[in-house]
Amino acid sequence: MTATILDGNALARKLRADFKTRAETLAARGTRPGLAVLLVGEDPASQVYVRNKVNACAQAGFHSEKITYPPDVEPAIVLARIAELNADPRIHGILVQLPLPGHFDSDALLKAIAPEKDVDGFHAENVGALMQGHPRFIPCTPYGVMKFFAEAGIDLKGKEAVILGRSNIVGKPMAMLLMQASATVTICHSQTRDLACHTRRADILVAALGKARFVTADMVRPGAVVIDVGINRLPDGKLCGDVDFAAVSEVASAITPVPGGVGPMTITMLLANTLEAAEREAG
Ligand code: GUN
Repeated sequence: MTATILDGNALARKLRADFKTRAETLAARGTRPGLAVLLVGEDPASQVYVRNKVNACAQAGFHSEKITYPPDVEPAIVLARIAELNADPRIHGILVQLPLPGHFDSDALLKAIAPEKDVDGFHAENVGALMQGHPRFIPCTPYGVMKFFAEAGIDLKGKEAVILGRSNIVGKPMAMLLMQASATVTICHSQTRDLACHTRRADILVAALGKARFVTADMVRPGAVVIDVGINRLPDGKLCGDVDFAAVSEVASAITPVPGGVGPMTITMLLANTLEAAEREAG
């Protein structure tokens, strides 16, 4: 079997064209969607992600503000800026790029963001709403993954879904969404015994553990749908996912590549959430 490639760039282009039109409609009524992105420190990967988010805003006709701080900034300074952004009518979405330096209490900072502007969906109130099945904002990466399933017409009802990784950003919200779609969900993590025995049962396998080419062909059930959330840099500088793409695409029925799979969809769904926030605010 050779898997269908789930093309994140193509799906992102399609969705972003729609968002641009909706943003123009909203702007004509006096509201331009606006996103503020806060970056603390100089982590090179975070710098690239933040730049891509700001560029995506410009291309979709959104207003955006990039606010950067040195790694040793006092958390109180960042908190004060978040309070200003909460009250700023030009800003509909606020995102604090993670991870934060060690002297920050990430939960406290995320809780300082007004829940109506928490376009990452990381505020405890929004996490709770997602868990109860009526989300205000769906976290961008799992939201993008769900769009792949919808676009490819993959029915999740009764399917065995296995997620590798239990992060707040991907693994946990992904589990909530798959469960809401009536899949049977297993979350595996670094302490899981006999991981392959779980992965081999999966109709849907989501890899989000951050280990280059960890998922090999023998771990995948023939015909499974494989979603690769990993972005890892190899010693030669090339990017690769958590899945051994070449081998697994011979076994799976559908697979996302890295790059060009989940990555472009994450930023696309950030635009979706910012646009939704602006549309809600504009009534
Ligand atoms: N760091 C890695 N992924 C994300 C994300 O989706 N949002 C934020 N804020 N930080 C991240």
